[in-house]
Amino acid sequence: MRRFARFIPKPGVVLDLACGSGRHSRYLASLDYSILAVDQDLSLLGACTDGQITPQQFDLELDSWPLAGGLFDGIVVTNYLYRPHLDQLPMMLNEGGVLIYETFAQGNEKFGKPSNPNFLLKTGELLALASRHELKVLAYEDIYLDHPKPAMMQRICAVKGNLKGRIPLQFQG
Ligand SMILES: C[S@@+](CC[C@H](N)C(=O)[O-])C[C@H]1O[C@@H](n2cnc3c(N)ncnc32)[C@H](O)[C@@H]1O
Repeated sequence: MRRFARFIPKPGVVLDLACGSGRHSRYLASLDYSILAVDQDLSLLGACTDGQITPQQFDLELDSWPLAGGLFDGIVVTNYLYRPHLDQLPMMLNEGGVLIYETFAQGNEKFGKPSNPNFLLKTGELLALASRHELKVLAYEDIYLDHPKPAMMQRICAVKGNLKGRIPLQFQG
C-alpha cells in the first residue's frame, strides 16, 4: 500500500474500506490525506484523536451499498473481500482517483486461512475489475509471499483517468 499511496491526488479524501485497526488510515493521515475509515467493528480503531480520520461504522455486506453516492480520491482495501459489492469501488473514484487493493488469492487454501473461495480472488480478478471500469493499471501482482506468513496474494494499483503530473520521480524516464 505504501508503495502506491503517493499516486493518490492531493489534497484528497481516501476511503479505507474494512479498515480494522486503521493502520492504513493512520499512514495516509501522516501523508496529509483525509480518511473515511469504515468497518463493521470500530473497536480496533480505538479512540481516533486524529482529526483527519473520520470513523464510520457500516455493515458492508448488506444488499444495499451503504456508501452509495460517495466519491473519493483514493480507495484502499486490504485483507477483505465481499465480491457482490466489488464493482461499487471503481464507481466511487473521482477522475484521477486511485484504487489500491490487496487480498488473498486462489491457492491460499494450501497455506491455511482464508480458504473459503468467497474470500479468495480468482486469477486475474482485480485486472478484470479494472478493465470493466476502464481503470488504468499501474501495477498488478498475483504472487506467493512468505512474509509475514506463507500466502497467495493478489494486488493492484489502478487509476481512473490519467496520472499526468503525479508520477513520482523514480518512475520518470
Ligand atoms: C482481516 S481484517 C483487515 C483489516 C485492515 N484492512 C488491515 O488489513 O489491517 C478484515 C476487516 O473486515 C471487517 N469486516 C468483515 N466483515 C465486514 C462487514 N460485513 N462490514 C464491514 N466490515 C467488515 C472486519 O471487522 C475486519 O476489521
